[in-house]
Amino acid sequence: MKASRRSFLKASLALPALGGEPLAFQTHARTDSSFDPWIEIRADNLRHNVGEIHRRVELRPILAVIKNNGYGMGVANAARLLEPSSAIAGFAVVKLHEAITLRDAGIRKPILLMGPFDEKNLEEAARRNIMPMVYTSVGPALDRISRKIQKTVSLHICVDTGIGRVGAPHTQAASLIRDLASRKSVRIQGTMMTFTEDSDFDKEQLRRFNSLCSSLEKEGVKLGRKHAASSFGLFQNPDAFLDMVRPGMAIYGIYSENEFRSARVMELRPALSLKARVAYVKQLRKGESAGYNRAYAAKSDVWVATLPVGHADGWPRVAAKGARVRIGSELYPVIASVSASHTIVEIGSEASVKIGDIATMFDWQPGSRPEDVSSACGASVYDLTMHLNPLLTRKVISS
Ligand SMILES: Cc1ncc(COP(=O)(O)O)c(C=O)c1O
Repeated sequence: MKASRRSFLKASLALPALGGEPLAFQTHARTDSSFDPWIEIRADNLRHNVGEIHRRVELRPILAVIKNNGYGMGVANAARLLEPSSAIAGFAVVKLHEAITLRDAGIRKPILLMGPFDEKNLEEAARRNIMPMVYTSVGPALDRISRKIQKTVSLHICVDTGIGRVGAPHTQAASLIRDLASRKSVRIQGTMMTFTEDSDFDKEQLRRFNSLCSSLEKEGVKLGRKHAASSFGLFQNPDAFLDMVRPGMAIYGIYSENEFRSARVMELRPALSLKARVAYVKQLRKGESAGYNRAYAAKSDVWVATLPVGHADGWPRVAAKGARVRIGSELYPVIASVSASHTIVEIGSEASVKIGDIATMFDWQPGSRPEDVSSACGASVYDLTMHLNPLLTRKVISS
């Protein structure tokens, strides 16, 4: 894909990576080099994916997982772009600072904090209308906080049905849920679980969750919306759609498992791209090497291009094991090794690229989708997105 620098900038709306103020220790205005890697966000693709998910789940509400800096998109960027959709019921993050960034950015929809917190954090969250995900005996702390801030604390309860990570064990969760439900300080907005994504065991996990929930509901306990399905569940487990779904990766238009690409359950369009400009083009003579430890040796005279993007930007080291980068309309193999700030691609016997050309590590086009990079070199699509350096410039290229 070729675009002049000028038309590219015209089409772009630069958004700050995190939507917040610059860090306190940054004393100079930031100036990127035009060669520096950047991230493009396709707002139209994001909307398309929300529509696909909403159709798939028969119009159930979607709790959008935008943790880990909005899967690389920038947590506030993701929320700002998703919030207008009526299908989006709210947002889920793991870090308290992300939840606070969202409120500071003016996000008004419900926010679920899925990560841990102490009592001070809990009070801060409650004051900012951020719902904690709870699974321990926090009832007395919630009473204290509710008294102090003069409002009930909305929350979701997490039940562990077998993932063994966080959550009240399903065999013991009933007493915690009854306790929380009985407190005036608390409003249970949701009850949730996470699958192991082992298709057979997922059925047993769902059985455990449904059995716990239905026995509590028979007692009259209000559980709020029950939710469990991540992107994997959207494809594999319609029984787990429950009252609300909780996907991340599918919203960003990326198939979390390669086999889902051909399943025709949803047509997802990647909404994220990592790009940089070719910094240098040179010819290696037969026998000359490239990269640390001379990882690549030219078998014949060959042109190579150096891209100023590396693992410090979030482009994984394993890209050197088979990934291809798009420059113009061609895909070129990554060679040698990916270092912190450099990637080298093999161009061939002709100098068919030039300094300043746009190089696309991944985008939405067939052949250079994140899933293509993932299957070529083994990098997980979660690593490709969530490890993108938060300091890279994000640009929304369509609205
Ligand atoms: C608790 C929880 N729910 C939902 C998700 C969304 O998962 P995915 O991105 O696979 O849809 C995650 C992400 O790992 C998660 O940790």
